[in-house]
Amino acid sequence: MVNKITVVGAGNVGATTAQRLAEKELARQVVMVDVVEGVPQGKGLDQWESAPIELFDARVIGTNGYAETADSDIVVITAGIARKPGMSRDDLLNTNAGIVKAVATEVKKSSPRAIIIMVSNPLDVMAYVAMKVTGFPRERVIGMAGVLDTARYRSFLAEALDISVRDIQAMVLGGHGDTMVPLISYTTVSGIPVSQLLDKAKLDAIVARTRDGGAEIVRHLKTGSAYYAPSAAAVQMCESIVLDQKRVLPCAAWLQGEYGMRDLFLGVPCKLGRKGLERILEVQLTADEKAALEKSAAAVREPMAAVTL
Ligand SMILES: NC(=O)c1ccc[n+]([C@@H]2O[C@H](COP(=O)([O-])OP(=O)(O)OC[C@H]3O[C@@H](n4cnc5c(N)ncnc54)[C@H](O)[C@@H]3O)[C@@H](O)[C@H]2O)c1
Repeated sequence: MVNKITVVGAGNVGATTAQRLAEKELARQVVMVDVVEGVPQGKGLDQWESAPIELFDARVIGTNGYAETADSDIVVITAGIARKPGMSRDDLLNTNAGIVKAVATEVKKSSPRAIIIMVSNPLDVMAYVAMKVTGFPRERVIGMAGVLDTARYRSFLAEALDISVRDIQAMVLGGHGDTMVPLISYTTVSGIPVSQLLDKAKLDAIVARTRDGGAEIVRHLKTGSAYYAPSAAAVQMCESIVLDQKRVLPCAAWLQGEYGMRDLFLGVPCKLGRKGLERILEVQLTADEKAALEKSAAAVREPMAAVTL
C-alpha cells in the first residue's frame, strides 16, 4: 500500500477508479479532484461510507483543489470530456489538451515525485502534453490504453471460444484509436496459438470489433463513453506499480528508439513496478504487424503536431 493516490476528474472513469483503488486498498488515502463543486466531495464521502461494508481502510476524500493531493505517489488523470456518438477520440483534442495542461501544471507543483497514469483522450497525445508540462521523465508518465484494448480483445475471444478469460494471453499495441494493432501472432490460449483454435475470418472479425470496442459502448450509452473496463485497466496498472509486481502490460510509453521510433507515445509492452515504467520490451513483429504499428504511429503524430503547448 502506498500513502496517497490522486484521481483527477471525478466523472465516470475517475469515480469508478477511485472506488476500485479503495476497495483494493492500494493506498492509505485516495483523493478525487474535480472542478465541479460538490461532486468529488459527495462521491468521495459516499465511497468512504461503503468502507464498513466492503471492509477497506483506504480513506477516500474529494476536493476542488490540490492541497489535499500533496505528495501523491500516483496521479491518475481522467479529467476532460468524453466521446459522444459519432465523435472520434481526436475530436476531443483541443478541449482536453487545455484541461490536461492545467491539471499537469498543478500536479507538478503539488506532487513532484508522482507517477502519472494518463487516461484522458486522445490518450497518446494527452500523455505527451502531461510529460511536456511536468517535465517528468518517461518512467513517470504512462498512458492507459493497451490494457483496456487487450481486455476487450480477450473478452471477445473468451466468448467466441467459450473458454475462461484467464486462459487468454494477448497484446494490443499501437495508438489508442482505430489503428490499434492486436497481435494475433502473440495471442494464445494457455500457450496454444489462437490461430489453431479459430479460423481467420472469425479472428479478423474479433480484431475489427476490438478496434471499434470504445465506439460500440458509446453507441449503446449515447451520452458518454465506457468506464467500468477503463477504470479496471487503470487500477491494474496502479496495482503493478504499488505492489511492485513488475507485470508486463501494454501501455502507452514515450519511445526513444524502441521499435525504430522516437519522440512519441505509443502502446508497447511495458514492465511496471515501483519506479513506474521500468522497461519497454521489444518483441519481434511480422512485416504486416510492423507496417500496422508504423501506420498507428503516424495516426498519433498527426494530432500531436496539432497540439499547442
Ligand atoms: N484511455 C482510455 O482507454 C479511456 C477510456 C475511457 C475514457 N477515456 C477518457 O477519459 C476521460 C474521462 O471520461 P469520463 O467518462 O470519466 O468523462 P466524464 O465526463 O464522466 O468525467 C470527466 C470529469 O472531468 C472533470 N473535469 C473537467 N475539467 C477538469 C479539470 N480541469 N480538473 C479536474 N477535473 C476536470 C469534469 O468535471 C468531469 O467530472 C475522457 O477524455 C475519455 O475520453 C479514456
